[in-house]
Amino acid sequence: MMKLLVFLLYALAVSVAMALRGFWSPVKAQTKSSGRRIERILVVGATGGTGRELVAQALERGYEVTAFARDPTKMHLTHPRLNVVRGDVLDPKAVDMAVRDHDAVVSALGHRRIFIPSRIQSEGTRNLLRAMETHGVRRFVCETSLGLGNSAGRMGVLSTFFVLPFILPIYFWDKSHQERVIAASGLEWVIVRPGVLTNGAKRGDYHHGFDVGSYIWTKRISRADVADFMLKQLTDDQYLQTATAIVR
Ligand SMILES: NC(=O)c1ccc[n+]([C@@H]2O[C@H](COP(=O)([O-])OP(=O)(O)OC[C@H]3O[C@@H](n4cnc5c(N)ncnc54)[C@H](OP(=O)(O)O)[C@@H]3O)[C@@H](O)[C@H]2O)c1
Repeated sequence: MMKLLVFLLYALAVSVAMALRGFWSPVKAQTKSSGRRIERILVVGATGGTGRELVAQALERGYEVTAFARDPTKMHLTHPRLNVVRGDVLDPKAVDMAVRDHDAVVSALGHRRIFIPSRIQSEGTRNLLRAMETHGVRRFVCETSLGLGNSAGRMGVLSTFFVLPFILPIYFWDKSHQERVIAASGLEWVIVRPGVLTNGAKRGDYHHGFDVGSYIWTKRISRADVADFMLKQLTDDQYLQTATAIVR
């Protein structure tokens, strides 16, 4: 009984910490877009699950795409409008070179070193934002996760009381910092907080907004649908300078 209580208290404390440390999103767009035409986009995390979808769907939409990859050989897609550049988000020089000459940056950055304290997401994002400011690149769309800031608890009971506090606390700590870094920038940014990701097909009939997700059930969404929604945020101002959730 005592053990269960300690378990629950710890899980609750982690949730509260993620809620407080994550970004508290306003529910209304905070700024007007510069209205700049977006033709060339840089995709960060391009070799990952969502990233590959972002690249493929951005090409389908007619964008000129640069895929930023630590290992370009992992990019199996070839296309006349696709350019692949090698780089690590923790290398400010590589990030600076990659960002310039683009109109927007879309990030699906993530990693698997979830038990090792790291600042890949926050520091990598800081490098991206700095380069964007230097080169006048205004629009930034970034995938984070449901469970942060004012979406805390909306990942469902299993994630809130087990996955997040016992498997992902270190990883989410950096993610919450990443959200803060984005929100502190003066760019045209949108934070996209998906539920649990799947490799399902693009359906297009997902829910988005500030009060989606569930305090009870695990809500999922395919990476293909997340990519679809993220690319829409390049030209849609509804969620500008806010963090919106997305689930099926
Ligand atoms: N899994 C879920 O259920 C879930 C739920 C909600 C939110 N999310 C979040 O959604 C995002 C996308 O997840 P995903 O599973 O689609 O992506 P993923 O497969 O984990 O891919 C992450 C991408 O980030 C890249 N990356 C990692 N470290 C890098 C570095 N230092 N420099 C440059 N690139 C780097 C990886 O490159 P390499 O290929 O070289 O490793 C990869 O392309 C992540 O932030 C994840 O935490 C996931």
